Amino acid sequence: MLEVKNLRVAVGGREILRGVNISVSTGEVVVLMGPNGSGKSTLFQTIAGNPKYEIIEGDILLDGESIKTLTPEERFGRGIFVGFQNPISVPEVRFTFLLQVMSNVKRGKKLTDPNPQVLTQAQKIATELGLKPEVFSRGVGVGFSGGEFKRAEVLQALLIEPKIAIFDEPDSGLDIDGIAAVGRAITKLASSGSGVLISTHYARVLQFLKPTRVYVMVDGRVVLEGSGEIIKKIEEVGYQSFLESVGS
Ligand SMILES: Nc1ncnc2c1ncn2[C@@H]1O[C@H](COP(=O)(O)OP(=O)(O)O)[C@@H](O)[C@H]1O
Ligand SMILES: [Mg+2]
Repeated sequence: MLEVKNLRVAVGGREILRGVNISVSTGEVVVLMGPNGSGKSTLFQTIAGNPKYEIIEGDILLDGESIKTLTPEERFGRGIFVGFQNPISVPEVRFTFLLQVMSNVKRGKKLTDPNPQVLTQAQKIATELGLKPEVFSRGVGVGFSGGEFKRAEVLQALLIEPKIAIFDEPDSGLDIDGIAAVGRAITKLASSGSGVLISTHYARVLQFLKPTRVYVMVDGRVVLEGSGEIIKKIEEVGYQSFLESVGS
């Protein structure tokens, strides 16, 4: 469904991704690992359509069609949801309004179309995720803790059930209950048909989700592909020893 083909990307004139190939199909949970600075967030930003990230070569295909010239909004409309490592706050937009707009875009309605059932559904999901209902009446991200930010992003994805849901380190900064809730939510998303791509550094998330495939990225290239076992190994011995042991 989502295919990243030989993708080379530069930021500020510096090449960061140097030929990345990955794919995510419907119902899959694909995990991207890699040392800090290897290019994971760059890949996610590029898929989202952030104009700072310049595609030098290669392509991003959704259901076989290139999306690389589409705006971020158009990509979202096609079913690509990207949750960022460091989400930003938008104090002037209430969280409820954002959810309503997202749902309307997804359903092809006018942005401001009244859509009360979205809130009911969002509140149900919030309970599952352990997210306090008071966040709904706040501006997006206003006073959100790190854990609330992550939960809020997963909530958005559960609400709109995108074709492809991407989360950048969804388990970072979360307490144990948060990791469990987010892990279960990701599993649920995949079983409802989304293809999920996440980055993580930690094996603990494996208690709550089962990856179909793991990619390891180093210096802007995918150097290895395998199963969930890779995550455990890396957590045990660290990236450097792991990569030496596999000859990468
Ligand atoms: N907006 C940006 N401006 C300048 N350099 C960037 C930007 N985004 C990423 N980089 C650089 O790209 C490299 C990869 O970063 P990143 O994609 O954040 O790695 P990861 O998410 O794997 O830790 C780093 O050297 C980082 O400094
Ligand atoms: Mg990152």
